[in-house]
Amino acid sequence: MENHTWPQKEREIHSNHFDSTVWNDFKFRDDDIVISTYAKSGTTWMQQIIAQLIFNAAADMEVAEMSPWLDLRIPPAEVKHQALEAQEHRRFVKTHLPVDALVYSPKAKYIYIGRDGRDVLWSSYNHHSAANEEWYNALNNTPGLVGPPMEKPVDSIREYYHNWLEKDGYPWWSIWDNVSSWWNIRQLPNLLLVHFSALKKDMGGEIRRIAKFLDIPIDESKWDLILKHCSFDYMKANAAKSVPLGGMFWEGGAQTFIHKGQNGRWRDVLSEEESMKYEKMAVEKLGADCAQWLKNGEMT
Ligand code: A3P
Repeated sequence: MENHTWPQKEREIHSNHFDSTVWNDFKFRDDDIVISTYAKSGTTWMQQIIAQLIFNAAADMEVAEMSPWLDLRIPPAEVKHQALEAQEHRRFVKTHLPVDALVYSPKAKYIYIGRDGRDVLWSSYNHHSAANEEWYNALNNTPGLVGPPMEKPVDSIREYYHNWLEKDGYPWWSIWDNVSSWWNIRQLPNLLLVHFSALKKDMGGEIRRIAKFLDIPIDESKWDLILKHCSFDYMKANAAKSVPLGGMFWEGGAQTFIHKGQNGRWRDVLSEEESMKYEKMAVEKLGADCAQWLKNGEMT
């Protein structure tokens, strides 16, 4: 363990969504699990998978409540800290920060999920355009807002896509910053990279890999139930348990959040040139190997 260079906190990030300082007072336990993604990349899916592994296929778990997004600035840090201190089971929290804005524990286990940026963008647009007034109120009218408020999305998803690329993640945050920070530490023994496409292709195989990484033995008599509880159809039907605050921030509720669960929806909308704009930028910002992994999970 001593031979590794552990990531250090280099900066704080504050925005309408983030308050990275919440990590500074977080009391880690050695078996904590941290789930990280840029956003809209399968975070909720991974939370469900981990809950199924920890609680041995139990149904009706309040996963969103158990597994808070720690660096979201609502509710305040102390509320989340207290709730997590009170937990007696193995804890699993979520983050959307780049590594250099976290406090990184050498003992906790980290799972980072990647998804092609175009799929992320399509999912983000659904998330943003279905958001209701309560979502805007929570982000824009609560104490601690730093920087510009969240505005309504433009009507056209193509325009939204071009803005996101041209303004480094607007109105969210930089995908390049986020992905490269995790990619650069992929050799650390307590980080596992998982790709959304691999989860879609072979969820069972990926769940076994995740269980091994987390040192959680699988109860084979519950295997079929675990798979059922992590399937898209089950998660959509039971979305209120896994989606933050039961989905109260979106028109259509929690089922809007567990939307389609498919990749490539942008293919019918973007021209070849528009699509390549993303691919070229990904290689430029991430390097060819990382861009390849983000696209489909392939490691060279
Ligand atoms: P879509 O909006 O493309 O449907 P996050 O939890 O990081 O916000 O990611 C949300 C995305 O994960 C949504 O993508 C959602 O449908 C998808 N998702 C959640 N659970 C899933 C599952 N069991 N199978 C496939 N996709 C799932």
